[in-house]
Amino acid sequence: MLSQKIINTVKATIPALVENGEELTKHFYARMFEHNPEVAPFFNPANQTSGRQQKALAGAIVAYAQNIDNLEVLGSAVELIANKHASLMVKPEHYPVVGKNLIASIESVLGDAATPEVLTSWGAAYEMLANILSNREAELYAANDEKIGGWNGFRNFRIDKKVVESAIITSFYLVPVDGKPLPDYVPGQYITVRVPMKNGLTTMRNYSLSDRPSGEGFRISVKREVGQPDGLVSTYLHTVMNAGDTIEVGPPCGEFVLGNDDNERPLIFLAGGIGITPLYSMLAQAIARNPKREIVFVHACLDETVQAFKDNLDQLANLSPALNLHYRYVSPKTPDSIGERASIGVIDEALLDDLIETRDGDYFICGPQGFMAAMGDVLKSWNIADAHIHTESFGPQ
Ligand SMILES: Cc1cc2nc3c(=O)[nH]c(=O)nc-3n(C[C@H](O)[C@H](O)[C@H](O)COP(=O)(O)OP(=O)(O)OC[C@H]3O[C@@H](n4cnc5c(N)ncnc54)[C@H](O)[C@@H]3O)c2cc1C
Ligand code: HEM
Repeated sequence: MLSQKIINTVKATIPALVENGEELTKHFYARMFEHNPEVAPFFNPANQTSGRQQKALAGAIVAYAQNIDNLEVLGSAVELIANKHASLMVKPEHYPVVGKNLIASIESVLGDAATPEVLTSWGAAYEMLANILSNREAELYAANDEKIGGWNGFRNFRIDKKVVESAIITSFYLVPVDGKPLPDYVPGQYITVRVPMKNGLTTMRNYSLSDRPSGEGFRISVKREVGQPDGLVSTYLHTVMNAGDTIEVGPPCGEFVLGNDDNERPLIFLAGGIGITPLYSMLAQAIARNPKREIVFVHACLDETVQAFKDNLDQLANLSPALNLHYRYVSPKTPDSIGERASIGVIDEALLDDLIETRDGDYFICGPQGFMAAMGDVLKSWNIADAHIHTESFGPQ
């Protein structure tokens, strides 16, 4: 437990943290990678370049300081971060490395405001947060290990087959090389893929499991990221890895899941582009579990050439009267033949109003940042409670 004096000292730094949060975390990452290069392989350099990782850490630190005397409200944030850390094999011994560099950065960036009292108070507060996270991570590691077919760390998988889903998305069917069983996962969860880099180090990425559990293998579906430079891992998977090749995989993690209850509330899935992967898995599971449950599934795509899983979705909709499936194309190649279940434009309030009969449902959203923000705005204007809105972001939030 922290003393009231420590709590007060930490809370008094909130304005300075809000003002300098991103500078602080930029300084922190630069310092940590210089002094402790051994932790660099945990991090995705692209998230540093884009600033998303700095923002996420700065947001987490400020939220922690704001709620240091009422930590229950951080429960969902702890769950998200602990799952992300567990997927990347962050261990208790890494926390002092982060702590040491974070406190040194607070000292540098806050200047005179970083009195010895501020630094010791933040030291104690950091240790408490580190314990909360690493305790939850220890539970996740143990649960993953103890499941039937479960494991800890990385396990070798063979690419059984590669299936092209669209001009930019390819599915990889993965089976364990040891031939032993696989654990069940909850639709919506992701695995971690670790690949070698040209500099001799490795790098890791998360990929959502894109079908419901079959017990036979995992499927991930990867969008090839083209840019300056091209995406490292997605390009490697698309261009270097083939059926028969071996890849390192970490166990399923993640808290963006359907839930196991017998809830009858309508389900609304809103997918943007590649964000369809966890939602397709959830949809397939939801229909298998209760074919009568009212479901709206909307997939937004640029056009038909980049669209994945259309045949599978059409098949599900043809067999499931309770599923209202809709495709929304921004600029279709053949606007006259997009079919009955489709329309042109972005997903907006008018379309959602048209498709969703019962607004009081459970919403699951995954897509690019702008898409998620736009969906969030509509649901906020409809007064949908936060507890009924579930989101997955394909990068730090
Ligand atoms: C929970 C979760 C689930 C996910 N599920 C999926 C999924 O199902 N399918 C899927 O395809 N992806 C998924 N992702 C995203 C995936 O993890 C990767 O982020 C994605 O494949 C891109 O990785 P990459 O190595 O190819 O690209 P990176 O090398 O990480 O680059 C990402 C982007 O940044 C740009 N970039 C890189 N370096 C620089 C630089 N120095 N300057 C400017 N720009 C730069 C690249 O051009 C690229 O557009 C998921 C992510 C998370 C967190
Ligand atoms: C109390 C200490 C810590 C806090 C508050 C914290 C917070 C966070 C947050 C908020 C995210 C983003 C989650 C998301 O939105 O996806 C994150 C991701 C991450 N964290 Fe931590 N973290 C801490 C300690 C550590 C440690 C000790 C390590 C290991 C060296 C670590 C490695 C990572 C990595 C690799 C990611 C993913 C980032 C990426 O993909 O580049 N974190 N953490």
